[in-house]
Order: sequence, then C-alpha cells, then structure tokens
Amino acid sequence: MAVAEVFDRPIIETGRLRLRRPNDRDVSAIITAVGDAEVARRLSRIPHPYTPADARFFLDHVVPGEWVWAITRGGEDTMIGAVGLTPGEGMADGESAELGYWLARASWGEGIVTEAARAVVAYGFDTLRLPYIRSGYFADNPASGAVLRKLGFVETGRGTRPCLMLGRDVASVEMRLAGLA
Ligand SMILES: CC(C)(COP(=O)(O)OP(=O)(O)OC[C@H]1O[C@@H](n2cnc3c(N)ncnc32)[C@H](O)[C@@H]1OP(=O)(O)O)[C@@H](O)C(=O)NCCC(=O)NCCS
Repeated sequence: MAVAEVFDRPIIETGRLRLRRPNDRDVSAIITAVGDAEVARRLSRIPHPYTPADARFFLDHVVPGEWVWAITRGGEDTMIGAVGLTPGEGMADGESAELGYWLARASWGEGIVTEAARAVVAYGFDTLRLPYIRSGYFADNPASGAVLRKLGFVETGRGTRPCLMLGRDVASVEMRLAGLA
C-alpha cells in the first residue's frame, strides 16, 4: 500500500472541533503556537526558536508519515493545535502508535485537547485496529497527564524523554491505553 493511503486521514468532527489534515496555510499559526517556549519545552521534537523552515519540515516530512490532524474550532479554519498518532516500534505489524498533541497557549484550559484526542484515540482503535496506544509526558507537565488519565490511559512506568528545546533528557511518565479488542 502507498504511504499516502496508509496515512490517509478523514476530517473528524466533534462537539466543538473539526480535525483536518494540516496544510500550507497553517504555517504562521504553527509558528505562533509552537514558537512559544511554554509549548516547546513540554514537547520532545520541537526546536526553539522555531523557524518557518521548521514548520515546512513538519508539513513536508512529519505530516505525510503520521496520522496527524490540525485542531480547528468548528466553523473556523485556523489551526489552534495538533493531535496525532505516530507509528512506533512494532507499528510495522500494526502493533501500536503513540498519541501526541499540542495546543496554542491561548486555547489551554477549555478541554479542547481532551475532546480532540478522544476522537483520535477512537480512530486508532476503530479504524486502524490498534490493540493499544502509547503516550507519555514530561513529569513537570501534569496537565498532559490529566488529559491522558481522562482518556483512560494508565501509567506503565517512569523514564526520560529527550527535549530538543532544553537539549537534554527530561523525567517522563509513560502511559498506555488498551483497546477493547
Ligand atoms: C497539555 C495540553 C495539551 C493540555 O491541553 P488542554 O486543552 O488545555 O487540556 P484540557 O483542558 O483538555 O485538560 C487539561 C486538564 O489538565 C488539568 N490541569 C491543568 N493544569 C494542571 C496542573 N498544573 N496540574 C494538574 N492538572 C492540571 C486541567 O484541570 C484539566 O483537567 P480537568 O478537565 O479534569 O479539570 C496543553 O496545555 C498544551 O498543549 N501544552 C503544551 C504542549 C504539551 O504539553 N503537549 C503535550 C506533551 S506530552
């Protein structure tokens, strides 16, 4: 199967949100959101400062190879965040993927990521037939832990994950959610 087919993703509508594929019109919104050090330091793969070339790398190399959606509010097309499933070790045999997400700081605290991630988790189980989904968060980011626990994820261990902005490994909490199958 061609990569484009493997990582095709439908528009997903939830109560307040519309999830769609990120595109070239999102560059400035992406730079504004993840150029914020308070967002970048909570993520593994985000350089800081974050340049237009970094946004292009995301659009050209990350988006085509993962199930990543732009988060928009219903009725608006502005990208306010991203949520996705990254194929992980074992994904070649359909075993697992990792849930990740970020939201522009102006939209924190409204339950948006919980709503968006719940829909993407359902896609992972119902459409991709994943037996389980992994995730993880830096130990000093309890809001992300709260999101995962609200979705039903349970802790599987503690470790470290790299943080590109900080240039070092950071204490992390590893989480997992099993599907019903
Ligand atoms: C973490 C993040 C995704 C949360 O998004 P959000 O849409 O604000 O999250 P929600 O509103 O759906 O839920 C946040 C939950 O965390 C809780 N929370 C917020 N700050 C908290 C804190 N300091 N300690 C504990 N819980 C906290 C909220 O109360 C809420 O739980 P509740 O609904 O039970 O009250 C968002 O802040 C973000 O994008 N941060 C930067 C990037 C990032 O951290 N990505 C995840 C990397 S693992």
